Amino acid sequence: MSSRVLEIEAKQWQFESKADYVNALESGKVLSFSGLPFELSPDEKRLLSPRVLNEKSRNVSLNEKGELKGANVDPVVQAQLTELIGRFKGQALDLLNSIAPGYTPNLRVAPTSFRPLKVEDRKQSIRADDRRIHVDAFPSRPNYGERILRVFININPEGTPRVWRVGERFETVAERFLPRAKPYSAWQAKLLAQLRITKSVRSEYDHLMLQLHDLMKHDEAYQAKANDDLVEFAPGAVWVCYSDLVPHGVLSGQYMMEQTCHLQVKHQNNPEKSPLAILGRMRGEEHLEVVGGLTV
Ligand SMILES: [Fe+2]
Repeated sequence: MSSRVLEIEAKQWQFESKADYVNALESGKVLSFSGLPFELSPDEKRLLSPRVLNEKSRNVSLNEKGELKGANVDPVVQAQLTELIGRFKGQALDLLNSIAPGYTPNLRVAPTSFRPLKVEDRKQSIRADDRRIHVDAFPSRPNYGERILRVFININPEGTPRVWRVGERFETVAERFLPRAKPYSAWQAKLLAQLRITKSVRSEYDHLMLQLHDLMKHDEAYQAKANDDLVEFAPGAVWVCYSDLVPHGVLSGQYMMEQTCHLQVKHQNNPEKSPLAILGRMRGEEHLEVVGGLTV
């Protein structure tokens, strides 16, 4: 497998970590676990179908209040989906606690999603096409540098792997694309918020991350030759990464669950390894505070 992926054997979601997995994670590695138990009951196997989705949704998600969104199913199936996604949520949080116990009190837990669609069949705009290699950035939800930490599990019942492209270091990507980034405009950011296009005022950090995301996806030559590794996550595999730091694209696969957590940069073991700090350094020291409106 790729040198960008750290393969770990684990029999339980809760364990005492001897290795410095946090350093690997913060340095941009994908941690890939094999051997973690996650059994689907016969009833749950029947949930593996795109038919559980309502017309407008690509994912079923379970929010912080335990409410299920995106499904069009009867109450019995709704309860089964809630149980399945909720069980993964609990185990994903256990795993994060095993990898990085120091993060636990400061993690902000976002919704958990179940993605039943075949990646190859998705038709969407270049900007929304996650098959193209990119770093995660949200157009409508500025995060001011807060990290995006994600846990994934492939629950495909037919032996189909989930295939990712994993790209080069964030610094290398930023060196390539940052010179092409449009300058930040504070008045435009305010206008976007007034028009409710963004949920709050987009910071310079958010602007730059979105520029990287968009410039990467729209650069055909880069997409064709992004110095990336092809990585297959077999059914049962669980993988964890900072998706705002690790360039990635999802080439193929079907039936995956994903837990997103957020962490403020100051709660990292090494805040200097965050995109906020890296972009700040690249833009010059005095720029750091402006980038994201936060110091690290
Ligand atoms: Fe992504």
